[in-house]
Amino acid sequence: MNEFMKAMEFRHACKLFDDKKKIPKKEMNVILEAGRLSPSSFGLEPWHFLVIENVKIKEALRIACWDQPQVTTSSHFVVLLSRKAKFFKEGSEYLDESFGRKAKDEKTLKNAEKAFSNFVKKDLGTDVKNWAKMQVYIAGANMMSAAAFIGIDSCPMEGFNAKALRKALIKNVPPFDNKSYGIACAIAFGYGVDKRHDKIRWSLEKITTFVK
Ligand SMILES: Cc1cc2nc3c(=O)[nH]c(=O)nc-3n(C[C@H](O)[C@H](O)[C@H](O)COP(=O)(O)O)c2cc1C
Repeated sequence: MNEFMKAMEFRHACKLFDDKKKIPKKEMNVILEAGRLSPSSFGLEPWHFLVIENVKIKEALRIACWDQPQVTTSSHFVVLLSRKAKFFKEGSEYLDESFGRKAKDEKTLKNAEKAFSNFVKKDLGTDVKNWAKMQVYIAGANMMSAAAFIGIDSCPMEGFNAKALRKALIKNVPPFDNKSYGIACAIAFGYGVDKRHDKIRWSLEKITTFVK
């Protein structure tokens, strides 16, 4: 098996971490970089990662996360935020800035914004809020794969009460900008001490149709 597939097998939704073991900064950066380098629709990177190491803050958030022990035993608890819809309105500062990184002049910039705006109005099968969240999940998946590649366990988490977690972030995490970001999901990272469970998956035949 190649190294990447070994990592895919290694990754499991870890239920308990060793709360004495910290992920070194360099390795945490590898995980976050994998998130940063992820693809996103129109390259708009609608994400922000809150990386929480503080034990007291993790305790405060755990209650909102169905009291799951992964939150407090993790080395780093990452809340993946998604930008709110206001950032994606035609002519917004964020669109100007984002498309401006590639556009060589004003006309190309405006065309890019128009194309994105048309996509949202005519072609997108969901609202912008959901669209943004979908991008954030891609970043999260890449972070977990990168973590597994360097022997670090993770647990993706949607098991939280969104309202309660938002309130807990507002109260305990001052840099959280509630007006600009919603919560997409969370991922706990650390070194697992739980018993690894077997992978339960449908066969490739069942979930794949090759069309020639
Ligand atoms: C978006 C998402 C949210 C999840 N939320 C939780 C969670 O809150 N708590 C938990 O223990 N596992 C959670 N899981 C893990 C899944 O239950 C797990 O990935 C699935 O059962 C397959 O097991 P495996 O990842 O160990 O192979 C979540 C997975 C995803 C993708």
